[in-house]
Amino acid sequence: MDQNTKTIRWGIMGLGNIAHKFAQDLIKIKDAQLYAVASRTKEKATEFASNYGVAQIYGNYEDLVNDANIDAIYIATPHVLHKENTLLCLEQGIAVLCEKPFAMNSTEVAIMISKAKEKKVLLMEALWTSFLPHYQYVLKELKNKTYGKLLKMEASFGFFREFNDNSRVFKKSLGGGSLLDIGIYPIFAALSVIGKPESIEASATFFDNGADSSCNMIFNYKHGLKAYLKSSLLEDLPTEAIFYCEKGTIKINRQFHCPSTITITVDGKEENIDFNYKTIGYNYEVEHFNELLRQKKTESSVMSFNFSTQLMSLLDEVRSIINLKY
Ligand SMILES: NC(=O)c1ccc[n+]([C@@H]2O[C@H](COP(=O)([O-])OP(=O)(O)OC[C@H]3O[C@@H](n4cnc5c(N)ncnc54)[C@H](OP(=O)(O)O)[C@@H]3O)[C@@H](O)[C@H]2O)c1
Repeated sequence: MDQNTKTIRWGIMGLGNIAHKFAQDLIKIKDAQLYAVASRTKEKATEFASNYGVAQIYGNYEDLVNDANIDAIYIATPHVLHKENTLLCLEQGIAVLCEKPFAMNSTEVAIMISKAKEKKVLLMEALWTSFLPHYQYVLKELKNKTYGKLLKMEASFGFFREFNDNSRVFKKSLGGGSLLDIGIYPIFAALSVIGKPESIEASATFFDNGADSSCNMIFNYKHGLKAYLKSSLLEDLPTEAIFYCEKGTIKINRQFHCPSTITITVDGKEENIDFNYKTIGYNYEVEHFNELLRQKKTESSVMSFNFSTQLMSLLDEVRSIINLKY
């Protein structure tokens, strides 16, 4: 078979909210097939599969990784299971696209990367924002200094949701809390645009169960450059990313981490750029991943091991400052 057009057969592990969205985009991709799904219960897998014309249905994760026809598995389980689930796939030589946060801490990320290298199998963090055209456009404009030097950035992600200890978002034993779930996106924005900060200031509020309900961060860089970052499960935040440059401002509109529009302001004049997205946005990371598989690559240059390692080390550092332990 021609490697350039080989159909990539995907499996999904863990069939919650994000798995549904991912599946909707995956089934529209050329030369890719949503071939198998696995849930902890066969009933749930059967129900999920019926929506997307899935060929193989598994009532546990082990059977999924033992299916020799699978090329790639998308891991969509709670954060605390990412390491264990990733290792299960890599041991069988199956490529892994694992949801963000890649794992719970840097030690876990190092173990995952080391296993992928040992097995010579592709592994990538599913930080989809990196692959979205509007985000890549902004990165390029900032790198080219189209509007001069960057002086300050702000990014937030927040919404109000009634506390529910049964929900993954709040449940501490599943890695719940604002920082790892949504605070990762403002941190990702600062890391991808500016890099690692020289120092970090952070403060947080907490739910009674110990999960963080909000987190305020300032990343300090050389020459007074600062990134003001915030996550919250207590209030609706702008959920924009704003880059203040010498000659203008680039704003990624709400919600900056999803397919979005951009507003550029120069001399008080606003220009809006619409990227005319037609999908939920998960297709971009999948197409990149498929391409890597066809080229027999074991690491992405867009979402590299080094980037994921740095991202997790920043999350670790913030957690240590706010004293959030899992
Ligand atoms: N990239 C994005 O845009 C995005 C958006 C939302 C979430 N995420 C990430 O995706 C992951 C899943 O988030 P989600 O919102 O889809 O969560 P969710 O709706 O709670 O789904 C998680 C799934 O994991 C499986 N699971 C396995 N063990 C579990 C356990 N002990 N408790 C609960 N569920 C368990 C379950 O599937 P089965 O019952 O089928 O096994 C469950 O439905 C998280 O790491 C999150 O950060 C990414």
